[in-house]
Amino acid sequence: NLAQECAGLLQGKHVVVTAGGTQEAIDPVRYIGNRSSGKFGYAIASAAHAMGARVVLVSGPTNLPCPDSVHRIDVVSADDMFQAVDAAFDGADILVCAAAVADYTPVRKADHKLKKANERLDCIELVETRDILASMSARKGDRVVVGFAAETDNLIEYASSKLASKGCDAIVANDVSRSDSTFGSDTDKVTWITADGAEELPCMPKNEAAFEILRRAALLYR
Ligand code: CTP
Ligand code: CA
Repeated sequence: NLAQECAGLLQGKHVVVTAGGTQEAIDPVRYIGNRSSGKFGYAIASAAHAMGARVVLVSGPTNLPCPDSVHRIDVVSADDMFQAVDAAFDGADILVCAAAVADYTPVRKADHKLKKANERLDCIELVETRDILASMSARKGDRVVVGFAAETDNLIEYASSKLASKGCDAIVANDVSRSDSTFGSDTDKVTWITADGAEELPCMPKNEAAFEILRRAALLYR
């Protein structure tokens, strides 16, 4: 089977994976978040370990248990995630950015619970977060960097433009409008996009897709 075929392909390699959604605090009780379950990133971390890699998983808040023998670094905000990945990337061979990183964060995070009656909650000023995938790609050298693109429409067009704009080696394009491929589901139909073109993979469980993605990433590494 697939797991056996892939065994040892990442022996001696150090893989860093981002997973889950980030939470951007508005005040101590409110935040801006998203619907990411973290399942895909966790499946990739687990598969990377099964393939022989040393694995660091930088994870936003999820309900998932840490995969066996994976070193998890728990983060909350996009800025926390950036700092953890930036530090972990130095010793890495392969980086897979599967996290749903918040694109914007509140400019001010109140230190007390805002009161709706007399504090402005109808208008929260936001600032764009740093792009982890693009920043690591810009200094990747020989390392392989893989990003994800979750889209509801124009999948290949949008995902292909992300390959170029982020400067990574590959993009895993995921059509999240499909009923069998939505946030939180266990199966996915993804398309692997590199400079060589787009290859649609069959619909399969996330943990099998994880092996497929890492097998392809390992081929790019050589
Ligand atoms: N990503 C990242 N840091 C960010 C935003 C995104 O590392 N601040 C990464 C994600 O982990 C993913 C890839 O970039 O691997 C694409 O994320 P996506 O949200 O699809 O793309 P964006 O560039 O943020 O564009 P948009 O959300 O508008 O589609
Ligand atoms: Ca985004």
